[in-house]
Amino acid sequence: MKKLQLIASMMLGLAAAGSVSADAGKDTYTKVCAVCHAGGIAAAPRYGNAADWGPRIAKGVPTLYQSALKGTPKGMPAKGGNLTLPDASVKAAVDYMVAAAGGAKAAAEPKADAKKEAKAEPKKEAKPEPKKEAAKEAAKEEAPKAAAAPAPAAVAAAPLVQEGASAADVNSFNRLLKPAGKRNLPPPEDGIHDPANDGTHALQPPLAAFGSLPKSFAGNRVNWVEAIGSGKIKPRWDRTDLTAEPIVMDMNVVREVKGSMPDVVYPHKQHTQWLDCSNCHPAIFTPQKGANQISMASILLGEKCGVCHGKVAFPVSECRLCHSKKKDLVKPATAAAR
Ligand code: HEC
Ligand code: HEC
Ligand code: HEC
Ligand code: HEC
Repeated sequence: MKKLQLIASMMLGLAAAGSVSADAGKDTYTKVCAVCHAGGIAAAPRYGNAADWGPRIAKGVPTLYQSALKGTPKGMPAKGGNLTLPDASVKAAVDYMVAAAGGAKAAAEPKADAKKEAKAEPKKEAKPEPKKEAAKEAAKEEAPKAAAAPAPAAVAAAPLVQEGASAADVNSFNRLLKPAGKRNLPPPEDGIHDPANDGTHALQPPLAAFGSLPKSFAGNRVNWVEAIGSGKIKPRWDRTDLTAEPIVMDMNVVREVKGSMPDVVYPHKQHTQWLDCSNCHPAIFTPQKGANQISMASILLGEKCGVCHGKVAFPVSECRLCHSKKKDLVKPATAAAR
């Protein structure tokens, strides 16, 4: 756990340079949220579309803040995938989108339920039309307001802390988060299998099982890609049908990375040897090159590639396995010349 957090803070440090911006809702929207909310990527409610937003606004603006801050199971990444954003900026961006969908009226309803909504409301009325100047003014006023209201913020944060805690529990099975000496313990001691079950004692301990397999320097120390490639293991594709074979698709998708990190090569081959197309498409990734917004922040949060990597596949610390394509050094110069 600690290690992952450490890497997480490292990564956030890296990402921070490009992402910290003014506290203006519009600014945050344009830089972070618009990628999905402008056109409705992955069924995100579209900017300025009252029909998309109406039912959501009816849930109350505080609920929307929480969705935006924590993410939703249906594809809204926490803070739009950019964890370096201050909470106030994310909320301001929500306000900005709610206002653009004509939300001030609809948001007035849940007023009676929560005090914090009463505070959120005047903000929106201060900028009914997202005109450049007006929006900036409103956003300027907004930031101190949000900062000056610590009490309601604390109330809103309370359930979030619980959510976070249970999310950590969900991960407790994760061998890779344990200190190296505590990994791959015999099944009765690993905290995953039930020691009261006789079958648990019949299982081969991982260390013995892994002994003859090709080594790696991370995760559970086995190079699984090589293990399957060299025929050392042959996982059964179908539990009952011994003859069933996977449909292995050899197609690489290159994802260009801004900055100095080498580009990411996503290989379908190594994945489809183990996984069915439906393990990833469409729930985790839209099957279209570049259609998915992927960031290190979301991966570290256990989304996108992070659904598996760091849990059941090699961990995020192995940068070069994913960032494997050296940048064409001539390219930036040509680009600049244009
Ligand atoms: C990677 C795409 C993506 C980005 C970037 C993104 N969103 Fe979303 N957002 C979604 C999707 C998809 C949904 C619909 C999810 C759902 O129905 O739960 C959504 C829903 C929402 C909702 C409604 C949640 C609800 O409970 O109904 C809010 C509010 C929201 N986003 C705010 C933001 C803000 C603010 C940002 C920028 C800081 C942002 N989003 C960036 C994809 C994105
Ligand atoms: C481990 C997850 C995973 C699995 C399993 C997987 N894919 Fe993909 N697929 C991806 C990713 C990631 C992308 C790139 C998306 C992007 O660039 O936004 C992609 C892209 C695609 C594309 C678009 C390629 C392009 O150039 O536009 C197609 C088509 C596709 N996958 C088909 C399949 C099929 C068919 C299978 C099963 C044989 C499969 N995928 C299995 C993750 C997966
Ligand atoms: C559904 C689970 C899943 C998702 C999602 C997933 N992977 Fe993987 N990935 C695996 C598994 C399983 C392996 C093979 C075992 C291993 O190497 O740990 C693998 C292997 C790889 C390899 C091969 C490494 C080698 O040694 O050749 C690369 C590269 C990789 N993944 C990159 C990615 C990237 C980039 C993404 C996101 C775009 C991604 N993966 C998403 C499960 C997943
Ligand atoms: C499981 C595969 C995987 C691993 C491991 C991985 N990355 Fe990434 N990384 C990605 C993907 C995918 C992207 C998004 C590329 C894009 O923009 O499409 C990315 C993007 C980035 C970016 C661009 C900024 C951002 O947050 O999107 C940086 C910087 C980065 N990675 C650094 C690292 C470092 C440092 C490590 C090792 C500690 C690492 N990555 C490990 C897959 C990976």
